Amino acid sequence: MDGKKTGMKTFAVASGKGGTGKTMLSANLAASLALDGRPVTVLDADLGLANADIAMGLNPEVTLKHVVRGQAELKDTLIEGPAGLRLIPGGSSVAELAGMGTDQIIGLIDRVKQLCRPDEWLIIDAAAGIHDTVMAFLTSADEVCLICTPDPSSLIDAYATAKQLGRLRPTLPIAVIVNQTDSQRHGVLVFERLKLICGQFLSTDLRYAGAVRRDDGVVAATRMRRLILLEDPSNPAAQDIEDAAGMLFHHRLPDRRDDNLIDKFKAAFKKTA
Ligand SMILES: Nc1ncnc2c1ncn2[C@@H]1O[C@H](COP(=O)(O)OP(=O)(O)O)[C@@H](O)[C@H]1O
Ligand SMILES: [Mg+2]
Repeated sequence: MDGKKTGMKTFAVASGKGGTGKTMLSANLAASLALDGRPVTVLDADLGLANADIAMGLNPEVTLKHVVRGQAELKDTLIEGPAGLRLIPGGSSVAELAGMGTDQIIGLIDRVKQLCRPDEWLIIDAAAGIHDTVMAFLTSADEVCLICTPDPSSLIDAYATAKQLGRLRPTLPIAVIVNQTDSQRHGVLVFERLKLICGQFLSTDLRYAGAVRRDDGVVAATRMRRLILLEDPSNPAAQDIEDAAGMLFHHRLPDRRDDNLIDKFKAAFKKTA
């Protein structure tokens, strides 16, 4: 439990590559905040291919599709989800959404922020890639959380995203969660590799925000349209997500790891502090 509440903050969950776990993590990380008593809204910003509602087991009647078509107000899209978090659902297979320009997106984000309460945190579940519209969402955030996997192409795409972010907003903080790892240690190694690539070519510094192990429980929860954090909090991946939430949102190191690993975590933390 964090205890103190600070003002509004926006985190954008991103990755160069698709399928890294952005939606799964956006939803579960938001649920972790909600369980802590934090007002939190998830904005499904994977325009045209939105699926955060599916991940959360929701069936919204009003989505961003209706807003873009002038058929509904933005506030009408807000729907309550697991653990009391709120979701602004995107629309799927909607050409108008996929074709939104940067200015329209900046306007949309402003309106979303106005809808949030003063101490609410906004989690933007972004689309993959480094298209201008994706970058408009990412650069609107207070911090970007890059999701990468141990897959080499995911690392290269994460690097490309960090590079583009560094170009557009050099002061934007970037945290990294390594998803689908074999172990916690594996996550630190992957992060160090990414940091090395970025350090050689970018001025952008990266902050470690944890590793989430690959686990069949996550797959099963996804199929049931439930969140692993709520479905089975003792699941290894669910525990990893809790630890990652502590690191990402509260800059708090996990306390249930072995000493050796904590040293590695601390080293990863320190280099980026
Ligand atoms: N740590 C994990 N362990 C097992 N499966 C995972 C894990 N993270 C994500 N997945 C699975 O990978 C798939 C893609 O995840 P998703 O969150 O939709 O990715 P993205 O939003 O980046 O495209 C989903 O089926 C999800 O259940
Ligand atoms: Mg997604």
